[in-house]
Amino acid sequence: MTAAKPRIFVSRKLPQAVEERLQRDYEPHFNPDDRLYSGDELIAGAEQSDALLICHTEHLDAGLIERLPGHLRAIANFSVGVDHVDLTAAKARGFVVTNTPDVLADATAEIAMLCMLGAARRASEGERMIRAAEWNTWSPAFMVGTQVTGKTLGIVGMGRVGLVTAKRARGFDMVIHYHNRQRLPSDLEAGATYHETLEDLLPHCEFLALHCPATATTEGLLNSERIALLPDRAIVVNTARGSVVDEQALIDALRLGKLGAAGLDVYRNEPHIDPAFAQLPNTFLLPHIGSATRETRDAMGFRALDNLDAIFAGSEPGDRVA
Ligand code: DGY
Repeated sequence: MTAAKPRIFVSRKLPQAVEERLQRDYEPHFNPDDRLYSGDELIAGAEQSDALLICHTEHLDAGLIERLPGHLRAIANFSVGVDHVDLTAAKARGFVVTNTPDVLADATAEIAMLCMLGAARRASEGERMIRAAEWNTWSPAFMVGTQVTGKTLGIVGMGRVGLVTAKRARGFDMVIHYHNRQRLPSDLEAGATYHETLEDLLPHCEFLALHCPATATTEGLLNSERIALLPDRAIVVNTARGSVVDEQALIDALRLGKLGAAGLDVYRNEPHIDPAFAQLPNTFLLPHIGSATRETRDAMGFRALDNLDAIFAGSEPGDRVA
């Protein structure tokens, strides 16, 4: 008799190749309509499963984790960010939690560059004008933005994504400054200037890119006091998580012209974001698509499955976060 395959409750529709591997190696419950499940539905799914395979759209807070069945072995995330899971609560219940680091760096750094360029060169305004058939002139004063080439870029969080963003930005001759919990070895630093505190970093940043994880420490990290330390007309880019920004402070600074522009891919309360962002002319806005390439989404799924494979083979998964 062959052993029963582990049952995996898959919360969202995954790339075809990932679902095929799940089908081959596990007994998966798929979500073909890609519907957002309620907490009760997640609990019901977990009751019939050995592991959950979830995305950042599923919020497993302490209350929900308390209700998960004790037989559940693991919560595998199809994401690098794990701020949607209460890791302390999961650990206390003995659930193994994994994420998908490394594989998102290139795709997310591309979106950081897009946000930087889009915000600086007024891409949203230009696009809207053309789509509304409102483009009717050209003059030396028309749609003048900020040049990216040669400017200083401050990076908050020089992890995998921050490092790739720095590398791409160097292609635009940008001068890199950064703040990180720890200074990097000089080969990784590659000439970037380290600042021990954010307060030291900010006055140097004509552009500021946020690449730090969402944690209790980074909650509201970019607030009005810190925005005030940026050079006037600085441009802020966020592809990390909305919670690292005090959004009202950002909106006020964009309105008052303290900040020149913002390029944002992430927000608090997604997808119901503060409508003020869309009303401001100096924002370039994307709907949390940092990792949304075919290559990266496949890689995220395979990485999540590598972790599940290890767990069900009785070994330590490569990307355990709890
Ligand atoms: C991540 O992996 O954290 C991305 O933001 C998508 O969830």
